[in-house]
Parts: sequence; structure tokens; C-alpha cells
Amino acid sequence: MNEKKKTVHKLIFGDSENMEELQDNSVHLVVTSPPYFNAPFDYPDLFKSYDAYLEKMKKVAKELKRVVAKGRIACIVCDDTLIKGKKYPVVADLTKIYIDEGFIYRDKIIWLKPEGYIRISRRSGVVLQHPYPMYFYPDNIQETILIFQNGEFDYKSIPKEVKESSKIDIGKYQENKWYLTTWNIVNVLPLKNRLEEGIAAFPDEIPFRLIKLFSYVGETVLDPFMGSGTTNKVAAMLKRNSIGYEIDLELCEIAKEKMGLKQSLLFEKKDYEVMITVREDAKHLRTQLQKRVGNQKSVVKNAKRKTRKSIR
Ligand SMILES: C[S@@+](CC[C@H](N)C(=O)[O-])C[C@H]1O[C@@H](n2cnc3c(N)ncnc32)[C@H](O)[C@@H]1O
Repeated sequence: MNEKKKTVHKLIFGDSENMEELQDNSVHLVVTSPPYFNAPFDYPDLFKSYDAYLEKMKKVAKELKRVVAKGRIACIVCDDTLIKGKKYPVVADLTKIYIDEGFIYRDKIIWLKPEGYIRISRRSGVVLQHPYPMYFYPDNIQETILIFQNGEFDYKSIPKEVKESSKIDIGKYQENKWYLTTWNIVNVLPLKNRLEEGIAAFPDEIPFRLIKLFSYVGETVLDPFMGSGTTNKVAAMLKRNSIGYEIDLELCEIAKEKMGLKQSLLFEKKDYEVMITVREDAKHLRTQLQKRVGNQKSVVKNAKRKTRKSIR
């Protein structure tokens, strides 16, 4: 591709179970992280039931099978979800869904977050209070990156100059141990007033590695659960085109900011273009979800206070 050519980034607000804007086999890589079922601190009661959640995931997987080009990759960042003491096997179920849709199950990477950061499930303390067998529940510091492939890839289909301009920096690859099935990456820290507040965003480093490892310069990366637009931002940085689908129109301003549309354009010439489409099926979710999350937090606080009293 011509290095000077602008890349294009299409942000579409609507439900990704329908990606009618995309032609069959037109996407070279998918990097995404679906909503975490009804995770209490992100999406309380977003789905009516776990079955309804899996149904939605199936519909999106079906669309992905249609739009992903032959031989290309879909990376799904997910993890099992704990709700009211019950663990939901999201990783196993999504693996099955993608295999059933016809993808090859190529690999699994465990993303390890630093130990100091556990947002929801600090459960291991139970053993400290009750140092006996059967009280053990580990704290979760991982997420899973499932990697699926849409059939065989034709390595000869890529022109030499495109290969060369997409070369992977082997120094970085070795130094940061990209070659392992575990990746140590710091998550987006839950700091007050950060751009992604209330969005379960992944850090830039996740799409950075996946885009470098599984796509060529000038190709198209899709995120069907765009959130704040991390995948699109990194795709632009790496000279790939991108498409994002996000159901929640309330995230539009955040995605715009992430794509650098709010900074002064007076002197800066961007080497990418952003196009925004709002479909009729876009919803307004964030304010409503944040309220529910707030209610959950106060319920948890009260419950903790009561527990502390009863232990004393
Ligand atoms: C885990 S977040 C993705 C965060 C993103 N990776 C980032 O870094 O900001 C999942 C997103 O999927 C969106 N979503 C949920 N259901 C959707 C659907 N059917 N179609 C499109 N987006 C959906 C949610 O609103 C949420 O923003």
C-alpha cells in the first residue's frame, strides 16, 4: 500500500448482530472483547439470562464468519464471569460457539494482570478469616484471548513490499515475551475521571500485539464490541483501516476523543479519516448501567459493613 494513503475508520453505532454495512470476506482481522455477560460492575442485568447472552454471541459469531476473509483471524478477549457466587463458563461456551460457526480454534493466550489490581472478586481473604479446608476461592487476575482462524491462510497472497512494511520488531517480541501463551500486561487502571470510566476497556497493548501479529499494513481490522474505540485507535496508529460497532450511542463522544477528533486540528494533519454512522438500533445504555452499578456498590458496602459487625 501507498504509505502516504490515509487510513479510514468507520465507527458504527448499532447492534453488531447485524453488520450489513460489511461485505462478505472483507475483514482481515477481528480484535474484540464482548460484554462480560451481566458482570455486576460493568453490565448488571444487561442480558435477561445466560442463554440470551449466548444467543447474542452466536449471532455476532455468525456475522463474523461471513465478513472475515479466508484464512484470517478473530481474537476474542473474554473470561468466565462470576455473578452472585456462580461462575459462568464463558470461555468454554464462546470456544464452542466459534468452532460451531466454522472457525478453527487456533490458540489461547492468558492475559495476566498485575497482582495489585483486583477489581471485583477479592475472594481469597476468606481463608484468612477461616484457615480451614473448603474456604478457598482464588482472586482472578487473568483474562483469556481466544484466537480463531477462518480456514487456511495463503501466505503467498501478500505482496513482498506489504510484508516488509508490516515486519514485526523481533527485539520487542523477544523482550516482552510475545512468544509465550501468557502475556503480562497492565490493565487500564480504574482511576477517577479517566476517559474509559464505566467501560471495561482493554489497554492499547492488547490490540497492538494482535494487530502487529495478525494483520498487514493497509488491511482492515474490525471490533464488533467497540466500547471506547481502543482497537480503532491502535489500528490507526499502525496504519490499518478499522471498523467498530457499538450499541451504546452514549459512548460516541468518548470514541471520538480516543480517535483524536476533539484535539485542535489547526496545525495537525491526520493520516487517517474517521466516519461515524448512527443506526436506528443504537441505544442509550451508559447512564442507566452506571446507575445500576452505583446501586450495586452501595448494596455491597452495606453488606460488608454488616458482615464486619457480625464478625466483631
Ligand atoms: C467489554 S466492552 C469493550 C471495550 C473495548 N474493548 C474498549 O477498549 O473500550 C464491550 C462493549 O460492547 C458493547 N455492546 C454490547 N452489546 C453489543 C451489541 N450487540 N452490539 C454492539 N456493541 C455491543 C457494550 O456497550 C460495550 O461498550
